[in-house]
Amino acid sequence: MDKKQAKERIEKLKKEINHHRYLYHVLDRQEISEGALDSLKNELFKLEQEFPELTTSDSPTQRVAGKPLEKFKKVEHSSPMLSLFDAFSPEDMRDWEERTRKLLAPSPSPSREREGGYYAELKMDGLAMSLIYEKGFFKIGATRGDGRVGENVTQNLKTIEAIPLKLRIPAEAELKKIGLNQAQTREIIDAAENGRIEVRGEAIMHLKTFNDLNKKYKKESKSLLANPRNAAAGSIRQLDPKITAERKLDFHVYALVTDLSLTKHEEEHEVTKLLGFKILKQNKFCKNLDEVIKFHDYWEGHRDQVPFECDGIVVVVNDLKLWPRLGIVGKGPRYMMAYKFSAEQATTKVEDVVWQVGRTGILTPTAVLTPVRVGGVTVSHATLHNMDEIQRLELKIGDTVILERAGDVIPKVVQVLPKLRTGKEKEIHVPKKCPMCEGEVVRVPGEVAYRCPNENCYAVNLRRLMHWTSRGAMDVEGLGPKIIEQLVKVGLVSDISDFYKITEGDLKSLERFAEKSSENLVNAVQSKKEADLARFLFGLGIRHVGEETAGDLAELLSAKLPKKNIVEIHDLIKVVKDMHKEDWEEIADVGPIMARSISEWFHDSHNLKLLGKLEKNGVKLAIKQESKKTKKQALSGKIFVLTGSLEGLTREEVKAKIRELGGDVSSSVSKNTDYVVAGSEPGSKYDKAKKLGVKIIGEKEFLEMIK
Ligand code: IVH
Repeated sequence: MDKKQAKERIEKLKKEINHHRYLYHVLDRQEISEGALDSLKNELFKLEQEFPELTTSDSPTQRVAGKPLEKFKKVEHSSPMLSLFDAFSPEDMRDWEERTRKLLAPSPSPSREREGGYYAELKMDGLAMSLIYEKGFFKIGATRGDGRVGENVTQNLKTIEAIPLKLRIPAEAELKKIGLNQAQTREIIDAAENGRIEVRGEAIMHLKTFNDLNKKYKKESKSLLANPRNAAAGSIRQLDPKITAERKLDFHVYALVTDLSLTKHEEEHEVTKLLGFKILKQNKFCKNLDEVIKFHDYWEGHRDQVPFECDGIVVVVNDLKLWPRLGIVGKGPRYMMAYKFSAEQATTKVEDVVWQVGRTGILTPTAVLTPVRVGGVTVSHATLHNMDEIQRLELKIGDTVILERAGDVIPKVVQVLPKLRTGKEKEIHVPKKCPMCEGEVVRVPGEVAYRCPNENCYAVNLRRLMHWTSRGAMDVEGLGPKIIEQLVKVGLVSDISDFYKITEGDLKSLERFAEKSSENLVNAVQSKKEADLARFLFGLGIRHVGEETAGDLAELLSAKLPKKNIVEIHDLIKVVKDMHKEDWEEIADVGPIMARSISEWFHDSHNLKLLGKLEKNGVKLAIKQESKKTKKQALSGKIFVLTGSLEGLTREEVKAKIRELGGDVSSSVSKNTDYVVAGSEPGSKYDKAKKLGVKIIGEKEFLEMIK
């Protein structure tokens, strides 16, 4: 994106985010989920990082949210109640660690271990509160407000049992047990008894309370609470403490604001616990970022075991000495980070819409998306069901959309954000011609569906896909017929280039796919992205081109392609576009019919488009520089036929070995056959070889030969 485009996008994002934040924080109303809003904020943040000169002081990334309500007395905070910067991936977290490292020591420290470690906490989805105790008594409880001035909600907070009305005075021995010295111990006890102590924490509503209340309200025909966070906010920011009491809120402390000469953030938690506050039992000291990431991933997967909503973890540099050195910038401290769990909704762009042909010929649209993390996985496709759904969403290609993946349900586009349009978006039309067979598409009378009436279309395409992943071609482990059919059905794959776009997240929601199998399949596909040219040509399924011929074509083409081990597909396109039937006939075993078929394949616009898509999706061509003819080889010119099953090697391995050493493999025995390699239980080829007097060798002998 250039600067001008970035500026336009930033302006649009700012407007949209501000609109939703106003609804959410000031009016306690919500039009899009917090996850979707976070996604927009994250895009804005990333753009501003790329173009720092476009960051303005009114940007939502620079601001602490909220405005105090008029109805409560105002409280000026002793120090600003800040926000946190968000991270969404391990990379974001590593970037943050790197930034803090640079700030602390201009030259990078050789140790990957963060001195003093991190303290990792669950990030509760509730309301930030400041609690002030004087001479041990709870005096003022305030909301965050705009960060500088909050609302005095003391009376309401007094109804929350988790908030002590009087501090507990810790015993000296207890404080010593957590590693504090005499001076620290004295200071804490003195502040608790005679001084002023401020803590900050989160007021939350447990999910069970939320559900029970809503059940009750439903019975009483009262309006329902939108979500636990809103419910907690509503409970505290209203004028009748009785209602707060009824709503049964909980409270956990996450910060000790008063300086009590402690040296670690973890100690602050232990001390506040001894002062009578609840702290989260899940919180954990982590000695490095790897442990932090493990903590994050564990709780992301076990969110349902926490009785309240949490939307991520808060990671804090544990050594308090480092805090002033890292400082505060914009809306938050640099010594803390919110590492978010991936939300069930996120925003992304629809890059294209492709049409799948199903078994009955029905065409189904699928949105191809800019990959995005949602519901804990990265997703790159979403089904759009049919044209009606596209019209209902008013979706265009290029639109920013809200994508949802809740639980293990297949991801779906739930909303378009039309205000983020640039004017370059394209209307979506049902293709006039079938994307698979180019036959005329017809509308199913009386239905919303369109179909390809060619009865063979689906089966032919399926065979094409299976051929591409088969042993002799790309040889992708785990991509057998059943799985391919499943991928076609759910709209993830319509042509061979689609295999390379599939992410783990696309698979995880599907039947038969667990975490590990999704990962394995994506890895298997990706590991074959550098395709051997001969296998690639065979995989294309050009009529009459078998494995042998594909090898010969590869040899001819290698001589014309750039002299590199890896070449791009557009290099191949350039070469084949200039070649005609006669050029292919130069190959000894290629006759006029085969030459015509090859030439036609490479001049067909549909096929060239497919090659372009393969390139776009990262497929490259691996070229063997030494051709059969230039290298002096052990099996040069020898023709082999295989029969029976071999023990040590697979048939594919044997074939590859023979070709590598300059030999050829034929499927039938003739006078020209030099050797028949016979394994156990050989078939009729064995008898024919005997009849023709062709030399028959066993597996052992063959292995000797190729040694
Ligand atoms: S530390 C500078 N720890 O998240 C703010 N915050 O997005 C320091 N939150 O306003 C906050 N759980 O309301 C911290 N374990 C936790 C938290 C937590 C929830 C909230 C808090 C804060 C917001 C920042």
